Amino acid sequence: MKRASRAKTRVVLGVTGSVAAYKGVELARALIKRGCDVRVILTDSAAKFVTPFMFESITGNRVTTSFWNETETGAIGHIELADWAQVLLVAPASADLVAKLRYGFAETPLLAVALATKAPIVVAPAMNVNMYSHPATEENLRELRARGVEIIEPESGELACGWKGKGRLASPQEICWRVRRAISAKDLAGKRVVISAGPTREAIDPVRFLSNRSSGKMGLALAREAYRRGASVTLVHGPLGRRPNVPAGVQCVSVTTAQEMFDAVTSRVDPARCDIAILAAAVADFRPCVTATGKLKKAGATPQIDLVPTRDIIKELGARRAAGTRPLLVGFAVETGTVAELLAEARRKLTTKNTDLIIGNLAQDSFDRDTNRVWIVNQNGAVQEVETASKARVSRRILDAVVSLEALNCPHERVQH
Ligand SMILES: Cc1cc2nc3c(=O)[nH]c(=O)nc-3n(C[C@H](O)[C@H](O)[C@H](O)COP(=O)(O)O)c2cc1C
Repeated sequence: MKRASRAKTRVVLGVTGSVAAYKGVELARALIKRGCDVRVILTDSAAKFVTPFMFESITGNRVTTSFWNETETGAIGHIELADWAQVLLVAPASADLVAKLRYGFAETPLLAVALATKAPIVVAPAMNVNMYSHPATEENLRELRARGVEIIEPESGELACGWKGKGRLASPQEICWRVRRAISAKDLAGKRVVISAGPTREAIDPVRFLSNRSSGKMGLALAREAYRRGASVTLVHGPLGRRPNVPAGVQCVSVTTAQEMFDAVTSRVDPARCDIAILAAAVADFRPCVTATGKLKKAGATPQIDLVPTRDIIKELGARRAAGTRPLLVGFAVETGTVAELLAEARRKLTTKNTDLIIGNLAQDSFDRDTNRVWIVNQNGAVQEVETASKARVSRRILDAVVSLEALNCPHERVQH
């Protein structure tokens, strides 16, 4: 079944003569899957590695390979493409292309489109490690960056040429994130955002721990969304069982216990280092009073585990900024009861923890799910319900609320509850 049509992002994808040219096919597919209309330009060298037909089959659009076979209608093909593009993505970009782009050559359709377009340009180089680290390439990339071209650094690893090092084309996922960021309104540009995500683990003995069902998906979605909107994002996350699925530009800090989460978050959330803190982690409220040094034995008496409270991160941050209003603080509240009980708890937290927003959600809607349903409660008591939607969509609404608070340029009016 075909997906319902909505406005598609218009991407011109330039593929150059790198061994990674075949990955351009996978990339075109990834872009199309994410709702893009993709028109491909192949350089002569790229066409030695991959065929235009392959891209035409995948994109459903004619592929440009030459200046001279595309003017049946009298239009100037490369200018049409340049004007059509919402973003020009060159992936993989050869060293040769990077150099010519820097100097403004226009001898091929791809170079001419790059010169003519007013759209943002994103370049993902892929080449031998020595070509990449050559001072000429480095200088070319530096110059392009300075002109506002987005450069997606290649990954390190084994290269097709037999060398090991930096030079592999970035992943399709990473490239898609960067393309999305390049075309997005940057209403969080220049903002330093700290986001916490995931569960914590409190050790009982060397092999057992107390934890909770948080998957970290909500916090990760918030981190991706804040990044897309131009923020500089630090993600402090508990154990997720895998590398967090966020763009390479998001700085990740991995912690395990509630105390480590406390230290990692509180040391980063102060007015000098952070503008907005969003605390979505499900931090343990209690931890075992003592951690046994050896594994507790089944054969012995049933152990009694005494619990002590952990330190309250949001409360600490709220208390620290008691006299001021920075950074902007957003907390989460999760409950298992009714919506009325959740909202009462959210309002209580707004006051006792001195936050700007509390995002209320129910455990059954949220934990380990790809969707969520939330209530955004602000200091004036107003409640905005976000009906069940993907965590990506919910994070958009939460950051919309954050951006409007930022626009009000705290301090905002506060009402006693
Ligand atoms: C087998 C083969 C593999 C190549 N791989 C790369 C590569 O990964 N990166 C690169 O920058 N150049 C690579 N080159 C060199 C480019 O193809 C060459 O510089 C060409 O002029 C690039 O032209 P274009 O940028 O117009 O596509 C390779 C060449 C050959 C023959």
